[in-house]
This record gives sequence, C-alpha cells and structure tokens, in this order.
Amino acid sequence: KKTLITLALESSCDETSVAVLKNGREVLSNIVSSQIDLHKRFGGVVPEVASRKHVENISYVIDEALEKANLNFEDIDIIGVTYGPGLVGALLVGLSTAKALAYSLKKPIIGVNHIEGHIYANFIEYKDLEPPFICLIVSGGHTHLVYMKDYGIYEVLGKTRDDAAGEAFDKVARAIGMGYPGGPLIDELSKIGDKEAIDFPRTYLENGSLDFSFSGLKSSVLNYLNNSKMKGIPISKEDVAASFQQAVIDVLVDKTMTAAQKYEVDTIVIAGGVAANSGLREEFRRRANKNQFKLMVPPLSLCTDNAAMIGCAAYYDYINGYTADMYLNAIPNLKL
Ligand code: KG4
Ligand code: ZN
Repeated sequence: KKTLITLALESSCDETSVAVLKNGREVLSNIVSSQIDLHKRFGGVVPEVASRKHVENISYVIDEALEKANLNFEDIDIIGVTYGPGLVGALLVGLSTAKALAYSLKKPIIGVNHIEGHIYANFIEYKDLEPPFICLIVSGGHTHLVYMKDYGIYEVLGKTRDDAAGEAFDKVARAIGMGYPGGPLIDELSKIGDKEAIDFPRTYLENGSLDFSFSGLKSSVLNYLNNSKMKGIPISKEDVAASFQQAVIDVLVDKTMTAAQKYEVDTIVIAGGVAANSGLREEFRRRANKNQFKLMVPPLSLCTDNAAMIGCAAYYDYINGYTADMYLNAIPNLKL
C-alpha cells in the first residue's frame, strides 16, 4: 500500500485534538477543541477539569476529524498518541481511547513524546525540511534547545532550570492584571509599549551554558510592580510587557544562534506556543537573516498544541520501525 493514513490524538493539557494525515506530512484534518474558556476563570489549567472535559469531547472530535478527512475508521493504518509529558489524567484519556481504537481496528499504536511532536510541526509546514538542525521549543511547559541530528535522534543542548518561557509570560500577565493564557496578551500589549523603558535582567547563566532561567526575570518584574505601587508611581502595562518580552526574546535568540554556530547547521527551527510570539518571530527572522541561517517558523495553528504534529512524529517513528503495545502508559514527566 502506497499511502499510509495516520489518526493522531493529543490530550496532554487543555486541548482535545485529533488529526488525520496522509503519509506523515499531508494534513487531511486537524481538529482542536480548546478548553481555554473553561479554565480562564481559574487563571490556569485545572487538571481534573481538563481530564473530564477530554472524556466528554474526544469521541466527537474523532468523528469530526474523520468526517473532515472524508474517511472512515477502516481507512486508518496507524494510530499515534501523546503519552507524555503532560497532565497524567489528561494524557490517559487520549491514550485509553487510542488503545481501544488500535485494539478494535487491529492497527499499530505509536506513542509520541509531546515535545518531539512540537518539533515535527515544522515538517508539516516545510515539506523539504530534513535534519540536521537546531530547534528551540518554547511552550507553557517546556523550554528546550535541541540538536536534531536525524529522525528520532536528539541531543538536548539546554533547557530551563526553573520556569518555562510560556510560564513566565503567563505569570507576568497575571501580575499586570491580564487574563489567561498570558502569552498572546503580552504579545499584543508589547506592540504599543516601549521595550527599552525598563531594563529587566537577561539571565545567561555560566559561560557557555545553553540552559535557561526565567524565574529571576519574573521576580524582577514583580519587584518592579511592587516598588512602583509602594512609591505611588503609575506603571505602564505596555512598557512592562514590552520590556519583559524583549528580555525573554534576547536570551532565547542569542542562545539559539550560539547553538547553531557551534553545531554548524544551516537551519534553525522554532516550535511551541511561545513561537507564536510576534516579537520573537521578528527577532529570529532578523538574526537568522544577518547570520545566513535558514529559519523555519510554523504557522500559529501548528505552534500551539495540536494533533497534526503528533501524527507527523508518529508516522516517522513508525517507518523507522518503532511501535508500542497495549502496555504503553502515560508518563507525565517524560523526557525528550
Ligand atoms: O505549546 P502550548 O500550546 O502548550 C504547551 O505545550 O505548553 O503553549 C502554550 C503557551 C502558554 O504559556 C501561552 O501563554 C504561550 O504558549 N503563548 C504565547 C503566545 N501564544 C501562546 N506566548 C507568547 N506570545 C504568544 N503570542
Ligand atoms: Zn505543547
């Protein structure tokens, strides 16, 4: 059989998503049912609420994905599913559903690492992209700088030692009284703020380190807000947002450039929810251009959580000989 149809399920956090792909890189459907409105009033994702909503949604999302792809269950060749990292209850919903489908349809099941999935979003968008390259994955839960040597072969060059980049965005947004998720709101405010207004710290850690740390920056923003309040100095949310965002961008872009030079690749790839940030995209474009790197930036819909990226990773795992079995379990702290 020449074409291979992948059904992919993603339920690691607050999106229930199902996608159907043809031969790994062609997306026939990618349905994302977001729970953001449900969690908004709590200021963040409530794990138990997320799990219950996934249970409620998942069958409908599967039906919709198949319908949109104009296919039936019988057409599916392989089933890909996120098995970690993420919220354990949320992961188990996608995983149990995928196992039930694999068992009843007698098709192979492939467990996908969510972080790996984010990288693969780029393979969907850029049909000619091939490893090796340097990838920066920045999301609500992760900040990883990775050297992808070949399909399935990664070297983690650096990661955050405390908060993830997206987490810092969300926390700062909350501190200046914005809603959840904070990243897109800070992004918008930054466009009208002055990024040089406040000199927030850039944390580079030890000489040569490719790790990240954002908790110092976050504290610095909180201190700035508290001090201004105590002294009765009015604050400009726009300036705080823009100055904070620039501090994050500078470190992310600098370290990624250093990694790309050190590993002598010609391509840089970015991924994850924070890769949707317009300031970050712009700065990456500028610096990649200046240093003559090819830059791959997924469209916004493939930056945030979605099942298409999981399906693409599942396809490559499968053709490289990797399948899981019914003992596949959720691993909340799964490493890349
Ligand atoms: O990849 P993702 O959807 O979920 C995780 O795997 O974590 O990333 C969500 C994170 C949130 O922290 C959100 O605030 C952030 O991505 N985010 C952004 C933007 N859009 C989403 N951060 C900065 N600028 C944005 N435009
Ligand atoms: Zn994610």
